[in-house]
Amino acid sequence: MYAQNVDTGVTRLRSKDELSDAEREFQDRIDNDIRIEPKDWMPEGYRKTLIRQISQHAHSEIVGQLPEGNWLTRAPSLKRKLILLAKVQDEAGHGLYLYSAAETLGVSRDEMQDALHTGKAKYSSIFNYPTLTWADIGAIGWLVDGSAIINQVPICRCSFGPYARAMVRVCKEESFHQRQGFDIMMTLAQGTPEQKQMAQDSLNRWWWPSIMMHGPRDEDSVNSAQSMEWKIKLFTNDELRQKFIDQTVPQAEYLGLTIPDPDLKWNEETGHYDYGEPNWDEFWQVLKGHGPCNRERLQARVDAHENGAWVREAAVAYADKQAAKRSTAVSQVA
Ligand SMILES: [Fe+2]
Ligand SMILES: [Fe+2]
Repeated sequence: MYAQNVDTGVTRLRSKDELSDAEREFQDRIDNDIRIEPKDWMPEGYRKTLIRQISQHAHSEIVGQLPEGNWLTRAPSLKRKLILLAKVQDEAGHGLYLYSAAETLGVSRDEMQDALHTGKAKYSSIFNYPTLTWADIGAIGWLVDGSAIINQVPICRCSFGPYARAMVRVCKEESFHQRQGFDIMMTLAQGTPEQKQMAQDSLNRWWWPSIMMHGPRDEDSVNSAQSMEWKIKLFTNDELRQKFIDQTVPQAEYLGLTIPDPDLKWNEETGHYDYGEPNWDEFWQVLKGHGPCNRERLQARVDAHENGAWVREAAVAYADKQAAKRSTAVSQVA
């Protein structure tokens, strides 16, 4: 979901007999839950898929700061402002851990950022929706960070060491994010009728994007099988989506809010909620760059990068000066 539709380039899973000796040894390690570390041999497809997935994930964290950053100056109290500031800052940290994890696979931060800024790399579709009211900050924490936890807890056990370890800390912070969102929704839901309506309106707008955030239906995610074989992905999109719905419906009931899905109902036989079909056309449109805020989000990232050029230049000039000083000192000693 933070990395939607990552193409592994594999159309058919090969059996173990069809693998080379090195590939078979690699797959055996994964099957025995032995972590893969950056210096270990790995198939090119595994490396490329991970670079795509981790960098998409990193971009999602960074772009994900924008819809919420939009409300930092308008938070309703000092306490809410401090909490939101801390949360948005955490997301920057998540981006940094993930860029670092991807760098261990041989891609540079410049390359990844360039791919984002030129529109080659994707990020989660959810961050292309606007935050129209303060209640949206509640809905994002509750639903979007809630989805992030469901998606990311299993990644703590994925096969690639640096990615799995980064996720451990990320997940701890995500649960605080989810709680702060739920707390905002709770306050609004228990407030005046207008405040409760604001919370309901926000749920109405964020529900379907949150459902789609878990990625396309399993039958439309052709690349999932290989990612599951490599233990980069531990549950399918539909499994994660179901988990999210089962967890979130009782929370909405507790808040006294209504989920905007007329087909949503408890299924005694399966022990899960049945739910309606989201508008997948909208999902693909947003992913292709035609969502309500795609242009604005990308422009904000490009501007931030350009406005930060002087910091990078100053850092390089300082490093050069230090290096020159060191070499003069060395030649004097000699
Ligand atoms: Fe995050
Ligand atoms: Fe978060």
